[in-house]
Amino acid sequence: MTFLFNSDARRGAVFADAFARELPDVPFMMDAATVDPDAVRYLITWTAPEDLARYCNLEILFSIGAGVDQFRLATIPEQVKIVRTVEEGIVRMMQEYVTLAVLALHRNLPEYLAQQRAGDWHDIPQLQAGSRRIGVLGLGQLGQAVLDRLKPFGFPLAGWSRSPRQIEGVTCHHDEAGLNEMLAASNILICLLPLTEETRGFLDADLFAKLPKGATLVHTGRGPQLDHEALLAALDSGQLSAAMIDVTDPEPLPAGHPFWSHQKIIVTPHVASVTQPATAARAVIENIRRHRAGLDPIGLVDRSRRY
Ligand code: NDP
Ligand code: OXD
Repeated sequence: MTFLFNSDARRGAVFADAFARELPDVPFMMDAATVDPDAVRYLITWTAPEDLARYCNLEILFSIGAGVDQFRLATIPEQVKIVRTVEEGIVRMMQEYVTLAVLALHRNLPEYLAQQRAGDWHDIPQLQAGSRRIGVLGLGQLGQAVLDRLKPFGFPLAGWSRSPRQIEGVTCHHDEAGLNEMLAASNILICLLPLTEETRGFLDADLFAKLPKGATLVHTGRGPQLDHEALLAALDSGQLSAAMIDVTDPEPLPAGHPFWSHQKIIVTPHVASVTQPATAARAVIENIRRHRAGLDPIGLVDRSRRY
């Protein structure tokens, strides 16, 4: 009944302590070379190891992050549960990042940074929060948490998901008509969708054309959801006025890529939110307890939806 930890040693040490304290009957291992593969019931990793099949008694494959698009789901045996890690650290950091991005875009920071570089002192007419409409693509754990954190600022809030949702203080949309309605009313669009075949290339020229002129984008989903050329064209034409981009394809963003020096783009290196080991260990231990009690782990991936 071994737990195999396949990530960095710093986080592993925190997990090891938590397992020793909270789940002492589950041996905790960090070295795949010395583990008995038959004993491994739980594995946490970012990418699935090539030799995953050697763990023939594996019950849960945990992603150490909130996404599972890095796994090739079809290659993971059917009986293995795939569970993502959504823990309070990831949630809090995403709330912080998106709030930072929304306020930066709302208060015209990219333009003021450009003005600063040019030694240009002049004010830009400021829209008030009540007139800056926000739309969030994806109303999952992170989309909802972000909307919750944005509520006190007074922005009109909307969101879009696959299935209908009801969230207090948020105009919720689903299906294509709902998407179009939300896009037409989003001055700041935030992408928090998982990467699936349906969302690959989702942020494209057609979608940008449906936004109000001068809208801005916050992209914290996954790199392959964004058509880089379409974003550059939308910024050049003025259809979009600025973007804050945390995820790109490829990552790292290659040297010389136009995003690096674009005055209307702020790039961060996929740091919006990072798994925090202490809270992640707690979440994983809780999920093992649930699994042993016959309950579904929190964050269980639905293989048919691929998220
Ligand atoms: P969830 O699985 O909880 O939520 C996903 C949401 O997206 C759901 O509301 C779902 O709809 C909606 N959705 C999925 N596919 C579609 C579709 N085809 N059409 C419409 N809506 C769709 O995910 P999280 O909120 O936890 O995380 C979202 C993503 O954030 C992660 O998958 C990851 O890619 C990204 N992320 C990025 C990080 C970063 O640092 N940049 C860090 C952590 C995560 P429904 O509610 O109907 O199921
Ligand atoms: C995640 C990420 O999925 O870091 O957790 O992007």
